[in-house]
Amino acid sequence: MDAFRIQGGHRLAGTISVDGSKNAALPLLAATLLTDEVVSFNGIPHLSDISNMLTLLKELGCHVNETETETTLQVEDCSNAHARYDIVRTMRASVCVLGPLLAKRGIAKVSMPGGCSFGDRPIDLHLRGLEALGARIELDGGDIIAHADKLLGATIFLGGPFGSTVLGTANVMSAATLAEGTTIIESAACEPEIVDLANLLNEMGAKISGAGTPRITIEGVDQLGGTTYEVMPDRIVAGTWAIAAAMTNGVIKIDRFPLNQLLAVRDVLEHVGVHINQLNNDEDTNACSVQIETDRVLKPVIFTTQPFPGFPTDLQAQMMALLCLARGNSIITEKIYPERFMHVPELSRMGARLVRQGATVVVQGVDNLVGAPVMASDLRASASLVLAGLAAEGETIVSRVYHLDRGYVKMEETLKSLGANIERLASAHVDDFLPTVETVPQNQVIQTDS
Ligand code: EPU
Repeated sequence: MDAFRIQGGHRLAGTISVDGSKNAALPLLAATLLTDEVVSFNGIPHLSDISNMLTLLKELGCHVNETETETTLQVEDCSNAHARYDIVRTMRASVCVLGPLLAKRGIAKVSMPGGCSFGDRPIDLHLRGLEALGARIELDGGDIIAHADKLLGATIFLGGPFGSTVLGTANVMSAATLAEGTTIIESAACEPEIVDLANLLNEMGAKISGAGTPRITIEGVDQLGGTTYEVMPDRIVAGTWAIAAAMTNGVIKIDRFPLNQLLAVRDVLEHVGVHINQLNNDEDTNACSVQIETDRVLKPVIFTTQPFPGFPTDLQAQMMALLCLARGNSIITEKIYPERFMHVPELSRMGARLVRQGATVVVQGVDNLVGAPVMASDLRASASLVLAGLAAEGETIVSRVYHLDRGYVKMEETLKSLGANIERLASAHVDDFLPTVETVPQNQVIQTDS
């Protein structure tokens, strides 16, 4: 498994541009199952999660053609409606083929996604929503099997104990485009990725209104057609770059920055002393140019992750890395995934002072972080370790970089272009850079459970 080797302490400077959004692209690609016509996308990011989704769509009968900038899909064979465990276990988001397959083919068989490294992630709301549209759903051998002769519009409440569900809303909204009659999704997810999906579906001929609000209305149509569509910029990647600049007290310019979708993040960063300044007021604030500048002394802050437009859970870990360097105590509460704290023990290995109680972490700011070998078992936790490594004194080795390859296109190249000292170590060479037990000071020997 590849690793990153980072020499910390280099101030970031320069200009970068934000890639297309992974979390928008995954349901957009799945939506192509709703038509027999050609759908082309610009700006699908080249990430391992996207490759997995394209592999799945090929298995489900899509012809896929990819160039550097354009990804074109067309369903050629509808005979297989089975998303197998082999693929679903590599990527939970495979579940977003469920709604489109059911609506178009009348049957979908999707392996039940398990939990993930940050806890239990049920899909009960997806299933409840599809059942409300008339699907018959059973579980067999670990597969969800959904049948429907014809879906019928219905009024569906999609709220759960932690708010709404993003991919659940995507599944039900996509399925309802081909249902007979009108569907109303109440307590729908308001995330920008849902708006992007509704925009694509409308361009394909669907009749969806209210996307981006808690009530989405879908008038069913008989069929959907092809189109060409540009994927929105990735708000989580954009936020990660802004925090990376702040970690090193750097000044960077970011193009295609979705400022309008990051207002909660801008608010929290502003409290800390990090300024996201829009460079041209006339630009589209879903993809504008901004400059990131940071005060010399970072201030602590209290924030809670929430569904959109609140502070996104997908930036909680990165913000925690930054707050390790603030002067004073910050308090972070995770309201979407109460167990999403894989980064806490690893940041502690780098000198962070963190106290966790349930879904809350108190971050006691320190003067500096110190480089260390670290690893995390999810995408955003790994990103926070890279950011910590950029600011830390000395060398940090972040193992299991494949998590980062799921969500950041060549992360090390982007950071290098901004002046970071970071390199990818091929798996065969990682051990050469990790300390052996003899060279690790006794107080840093990693404890393992026997
Ligand atoms: N939930 C339920 N029942 C359900 C579905 C969800 O109780 O049927 C709960 C979840 O356990 C969680 C909350 O509702 O507590 C929100 O989960 P949601 O369904 O919205 O998550 P998701 O759609 O599976 C997407 C992103 C995640 C992101 C979450 C929350 C994609 C591919 N994934 O997941 O992104 O954290 O929304 O915003 O869009 C990431 O990119 O690193 C990532 C994990």
